[in-house]
Parts: sequence; structure tokens; C-alpha cells
Amino acid sequence: MKTITIAIDGYSSTGKSTLAKQLAKHLNYIYVDTGAMYRAVTLFAMQNGYIDYDFFDKQTLINSVPSIKLNFKFNAELGFAEMYLNDVNVEKEIRTIEVSNFVSRVAEISQVRAKLVEQQQEMGKNKAIVMDGRDIGTVVFPDAELKIFMTASPETRAQRRYDELQAKGDDVTYEEVLKNVEERDYIDTHRDDSPLVIANDAIEIDNSYLDKEEQFKAVLELVEEVMNS
Ligand code: DC
Repeated sequence: MKTITIAIDGYSSTGKSTLAKQLAKHLNYIYVDTGAMYRAVTLFAMQNGYIDYDFFDKQTLINSVPSIKLNFKFNAELGFAEMYLNDVNVEKEIRTIEVSNFVSRVAEISQVRAKLVEQQQEMGKNKAIVMDGRDIGTVVFPDAELKIFMTASPETRAQRRYDELQAKGDDVTYEEVLKNVEERDYIDTHRDDSPLVIANDAIEIDNSYLDKEEQFKAVLELVEEVMNS
């Protein structure tokens, strides 16, 4: 059996990370959530007052990029790696609606992308990795043996994200979440640097009507096909 790289891209809240975690656990591969890295840089910008609803000091953020340290540390209890920003666990803080509202603007910045892509390529240099994001199959690992592109209707995705936020006690409305999902789709697909596009050789999965287990089984079959080819 071959050791491979699995790239999972797609729109926000399509369940990329759920699928990626299932695959990584089953295959005993490393899992990397690249969205968490963009979220951590966004949190850094918020903590330092570089970004707010009515202003964004991009240049100061760009100047600070070399001082931003990002790490994943495996949490055995949770069964996945948590995000650390400058040695502080920020796993909870990066999942708020405020971070979601600003993250696409931070992810547009080429200097931020260059730094994160380099770190992602380093993490995947020995393969045996499942990485999810927006540009994994197109930019980070264009030679990945398996590329999955996940979609679902904006309403389905907003409902999922809304349920998650509610479960955490976040005070948001469904309309607010839907607006955020649609805005991020727009910015992610229209930015100049590494926009979200489907790679030529990616397999598209619309999971609006698939449950987690059905989806996992379908993708596992694809994985086994590639590993045995
Ligand atoms: O996967 P997520 O929703 O946590 O990602 C948050 C944002 O980060 C997303 O709206 C766009 C950006 N992102 C990106 O530009 N490239 C990636 N590889 C991953 C995320």
C-alpha cells in the first residue's frame, strides 16, 4: 500500500474537518486544519487592535508576520491537535463568530499565505497526511494523490455552523451565520491570491444529503483505490 497525501478543499462549513479527522484516525495519518492557522493569525490581528469592523491596518499585520508563531499540539483526550498561537492554546478563541467575520480578509494577504503555505508544506513533506482548507489541492500540494472538493448549499452549511455555535453557547442568529457563510464564500472565491477553485483532478462531493458515515465510507473507497493503484 502506498503512503499518500490527501487534500480536502471546499466551502466553509461543508464538514471538511469532520471527514479529514475520520480519515486521519482510520489511516493513522497526521491531520492538519489549515483554517485554524488563518483563524489564529486573525485572532492575533484582533488582539493587537489591527482589525475591527470599520478598519484594518494591513501593513502593521504584514510587518508582524515573522513574529507570529503557530503550532499544533496533539491532545490525546480530544484525539486531535489543537492550535497554539505564540505558545498559547487558542483552540476555543479561534472558533468564535468574530474571528469568522474577519478571517477571509486576513486570508487575502499574500504575505500571510506565503508563511502558512510554507509551514503546511513542511508538515506534509513525508506524506501520510490529511490536510483541509481552500488551496490544498491547488497550491499547497498540487501533486496530492487524492483531492476531494466538498460542497453543500449555503443554507445547509449555515444551519450546521449555527447548531455548533449554539451548542457552545455562542449568542448568534441563523441569519447572522448565513450572512457570514455567504460573505466568506464570496471573498474566498474572488481573492487574487489562491482563490478557492476546484482543482482539475479533484473529486467533488456534495454532502447536502449525505450523513457523516455515508460520506466517510464513500471517500474511504476512493482512498483505498488510490493506495492500491
Ligand atoms: O476552514 P475554516 O472555515 O476554518 O477557514 C477559515 C477561513 O480561512 C476561510 O474563510 C478562508 C481561510 N482559509 C484559506 O484561505 N485557505 C486555507 N487553506 C484555509 C482557510
